[in-house]
Amino acid sequence: MVTRLDNFLSNEGFGTRKHVKTLIKNGHVKLENEIVKIPDFKFDPELLACYVDDNRVEYQKEIFLMLNKPSGYICSNIDERYPSVLRLIDSKYLKRIKLVGRLDADTTGLLLLMDNGKISNRLIHPNTGIEKEYLAGVDKEVSDKDLEILRGKIDLYDDGIIQAKKVELVGPKLLDITVSEGKYHEIKRMCKRANLEVVKLTRLRIGELKLGGLELGQYRHLTKEEVNYIKKAVNMED
Ligand code: URA
Repeated sequence: MVTRLDNFLSNEGFGTRKHVKTLIKNGHVKLENEIVKIPDFKFDPELLACYVDDNRVEYQKEIFLMLNKPSGYICSNIDERYPSVLRLIDSKYLKRIKLVGRLDADTTGLLLLMDNGKISNRLIHPNTGIEKEYLAGVDKEVSDKDLEILRGKIDLYDDGIIQAKKVELVGPKLLDITVSEGKYHEIKRMCKRANLEVVKLTRLRIGELKLGGLELGQYRHLTKEEVNYIKKAVNMED
């Protein structure tokens, strides 16, 4: 994909267009071995290596990140009552990536961020059918009756009827819940129907993507296999 040198460097996190123009004009930027002093010079970053002060600018054709979201951050592009989760991501990615769906401010766990809007839209579509697994800590011991309610069809009134794919009791006050719809406050609203208040919520899995040992507040790039899986899951294979 051909791009302007100043746009490319700005998108890769080297500062504003004004700043990168100055970098370029002052001879800090090379394409392969040649200093290029023309800010709007057009090139293909997949074909020519770019260097700033002899440091290679690692160009990534696609960006797919997995974050283990901590509590106290919001899934918004801007800070509101809480800071945005984007504060946890290196600024070099911020011009390109978008959040894939939302977790509540007090929910922790697996959150995807990517630069492919089409894949993202398909992933968050309520009918995508991709499973999401949550660990929900509740305020009181879960009875058999509660489990029966949670495993049955639940009327969210204005938001339709949902049914969890799986509900397992993993501790007296701890539920492992798998859903495949993507409704607002889904888990908390489901639990409320059984008169249970969610006091701690973590998303463990989206489809085959798992948090694994990713530390709270840390993020990583998806592996090639994970990217291929996501594309296949939304029918957008290369
Ligand atoms: N369900 C909820 O209630 N909250 C979340 O953050 C995610 C799913």
